[in-house]
Parts: sequence; structure tokens; C-alpha cells
Amino acid sequence: MVGAGAEGAVADRSAAETILRLANVESAYGPIKAIRGVSLAVRTGEIVTVLGSNGAGKTTILKTISGIIDPRKGSVEYAGEAITALDPSLIVRKGLVHVPEGREVFPLLSVHDNLLMGAYTRTDRDAVARDMEMVFGYFPILEERQRQQAGLLSGGQQQMLAISRALMADPRLMLLDEPSLGLSPKLTKEIFEIVVRINRERGTTMLLVEQNANMALNAADHGYVLENGRIVMEDSCARLREKEDIREFYLGMKEAGARGERRWKKKKTWR
Ligand SMILES: Nc1ncnc2c1ncn2[C@@H]1O[C@H](COP(=O)(O)OP(=O)(O)O)[C@@H](O)[C@H]1O
Ligand SMILES: [Mg+2]
Repeated sequence: MVGAGAEGAVADRSAAETILRLANVESAYGPIKAIRGVSLAVRTGEIVTVLGSNGAGKTTILKTISGIIDPRKGSVEYAGEAITALDPSLIVRKGLVHVPEGREVFPLLSVHDNLLMGAYTRTDRDAVARDMEMVFGYFPILEERQRQQAGLLSGGQQQMLAISRALMADPRLMLLDEPSLGLSPKLTKEIFEIVVRINRERGTTMLLVEQNANMALNAADHGYVLENGRIVMEDSCARLREKEDIREFYLGMKEAGARGERRWKKKKTWR
């Protein structure tokens, strides 16, 4: 359930094991430095979010973790092992699975075959069949549409399929790149609720990057704020939700009201 994030699955963050650690990571596209000095940690069992507006460097962080981009500086450590600039296919095999921005399903393949593609590294066929059932439990519409071409699904259904395809790899850590992008508020809420359920029920650790701070701060346990390629703030999501500048810039809430009376106003763009 969205909203349960405040208490979180990880009660004492400092005591939990760190599954992912970035230290001083810098990545660039030619002369353009997209992220600089990025350090962050994800503990086993948590949902961690990185909030940032368009162009802040969110996608670059995820691509650097999953090996699609090699960083210029810094290190990425996963499950106690350096994975900096390792081949992406090797990183997937270690259980670190990336759900890319814009969903990227195979449009001409059926829903069913897209799901099997997610399990391509696995040889445990019975477990793969069980995971297909598990995925259909979370997203019943995918079971109904399993024989259809993925390209014919709606945007929301394609996002569900992209998340499900990642689940078929049996991940320990999932990287989610803006699952809310282009979706209605209702569908976004539905998808976030299921992401939280997957985290709570299966213990899958999540690193979620989002522009939709409202949804992300409700779903996640811990958050980082990224501006112009740099982390500028870090705290529990419960505390981030209360911070004045987060409320103003990311949640679209403004302290209005003359004569010192306090009133919170919400912009139309949120919810
Ligand atoms: N393939 C690319 N080539 C050149 N610049 C890029 C490329 N991808 C992203 N950038 C630049 O890197 C910065 C961070 O981009 P990105 O990580 O995609 O941000 P976000 O995901 O937060 O929107 C932006 O300034 C963007 O213009
Ligand atoms: Mg992006």
C-alpha cells in the first residue's frame, strides 16, 4: 500500500546491510558531465528514491549502475563486490535488473514471450513458470493479454509488462526509471501500489528515480534529491515530505496566506 513507506521495511537503516553503494560517481556524454560526485547507498529491503527534474541526471545514474554507461570517476559496489563498468549482461546475472525509462518492451513479441525474455538467464524452468504465475497475480491484465503483441498494449500496461519482465529475472535489486512517465495519475498510483507490494511481499530492494516526487516520497523509505547532476539532499522520505523546499519545489505546495496565517496550496499539476 502506498503510504506505508514512511515506516518502511527497514526500521533501523544504519543496521541494515548495504546492497548498493555509489561513491563519487561521475558520468559524461562526451564533454557533457551528466552526474558529478554522486554517492548514495541502498540497504537490503528498502525502496530508495532519487528525485530530480528533467535533465537532472536520474537516467544516467541508473545506466551507470547497470553498466550501460561506464563512469569517468568513482565506483559502484553491489552485494559487496565492485561492479563498476562491468558488462551489463553480467550485472543482470547477479540479480541487478534495470527497468528502463519509456518501458522498451519488444513490441512485436507477445506479452508471454516478453516475459520469457526477462527470464533468459535462468535455467530453472519450474521456478520460471511459478514466477510467471506470480507476475500474473500482480498484474492480472497481463494474463488476459498474454497472447497479444506487446506493442498493442496501452502505456500503463506496457509499464506493467516492463516491471514484470524485470521480475522474471528474479531480481534482488530493481532499478526503476520513472515508471510514472506519461501515465495518468490513477494508473501511476496503481503501479506504485504494486511496486510497494512487491517490495514488501518479495523483499525485492528497489532504487526508483522519479520526477513525480509526490508518488515517490509516499512509496519509498529513503530519498535523495538530485539537481544538475549532484546530490543536494538526503533523508528519510518521511522527513523529506516535511521539508519546506521539497514541498515548494517538488510537491508544488506553497505557503500562502497573508498576515502570517499558514495555508498550504497545492498546484494542479500534482495528483
Ligand atoms: N545520449 C546523450 N548525449 C548527450 N547528452 C545526454 C545524453 N543523455 C543525457 N544527456 C544529458 O545528460 C544530462 C542528464 O540526463 P538524464 O540522465 O537523461 O536526466 P534525467 O533522467 O534526470 O532526465 C542532461 O543534461 C542531458 O541532456
Ligand atoms: Mg530520465
